[in-house]
Amino acid sequence: MRNRLSVERIKERLKTKVLGKEIIYFKEIRSTQTEAKKLAKQGSPEGTMVIAEKQKKGKGRLERRWYSPEGGLWFSLILRPKIAPSFVYQLTLLTSLAIAETIGRTTPPLKFEDIKIKWPNDVLIRKDEKFKKVCGILTETSVSKGYPEWVVTGIGININNPIPKSLEDKAISLAEIGKYIDREKILLTLLPVLEKKYLSFQKQGFEPFSDDYRQRSFILGKQVSINTGSEKINGFVKDIDFEGKLILQLRDSEIGDPAKAVIRKIATGEIGKVAG
Ligand code: BTN
Repeated sequence: MRNRLSVERIKERLKTKVLGKEIIYFKEIRSTQTEAKKLAKQGSPEGTMVIAEKQKKGKGRLERRWYSPEGGLWFSLILRPKIAPSFVYQLTLLTSLAIAETIGRTTPPLKFEDIKIKWPNDVLIRKDEKFKKVCGILTETSVSKGYPEWVVTGIGININNPIPKSLEDKAISLAEIGKYIDREKILLTLLPVLEKKYLSFQKQGFEPFSDDYRQRSFILGKQVSINTGSEKINGFVKDIDFEGKLILQLRDSEIGDPAKAVIRKIATGEIGKVAG
């Protein structure tokens, strides 16, 4: 295997107080997410990171599989945020922002405008005028007595790994922009960037990040289709508000009941087609 991750080297260089203070490394695992959730339930401290070179059964959102061969960064972080459970979705937005920023800092020649976030949390990069997904985030939580007992944020970044033919149209690896990428450098940049945002988010909420998030948006001002879990609708993305919610203006044909609002505020969902 080319360039295996070294936990020793990462620990030596990592400049964080919380994230990655405990690192649990696997050459191969079914899913870092499942392992991290197990550890969270057993009481592992906040910041514990489970990381693997390869996942045999990586989990994506909506029960999808996440293709995770050698060469990518596949890891899950245990968090114990002091926030109301209704704000946990914002942590995912915050994480996507930290990843977009990290890619910008570590991967020239990608510039700010080449790195976008497809709400809520897919990070996309531009190659040959086309944006494709380079990173996915899966956030899971367990609530007890009105607070999140734990949150596990799973991050999958395609770095030097190949992309299967069936996904080539939608997904990309960072290395496709032209060179082999140092995965440790990405991790060592990301964790402090994310930690800073995470600590400030717990004090000040999402609003101070909402402008940055809006500027990164791939769908703002575009026509999209969205699956909210309870319905599939089409509309125009008017805004992403200070809470990170999508402000969707519905097409007339979507408003079956004229008494219903023309504008919908959506906290989470899956974007399908994007046009315009
Ligand atoms: C998505 O569907 O976009 C989310 C993908 C999340 C994948 C990561 S890889 C590390 C962690 N372990 C998993 O099994 N899934 C997440």
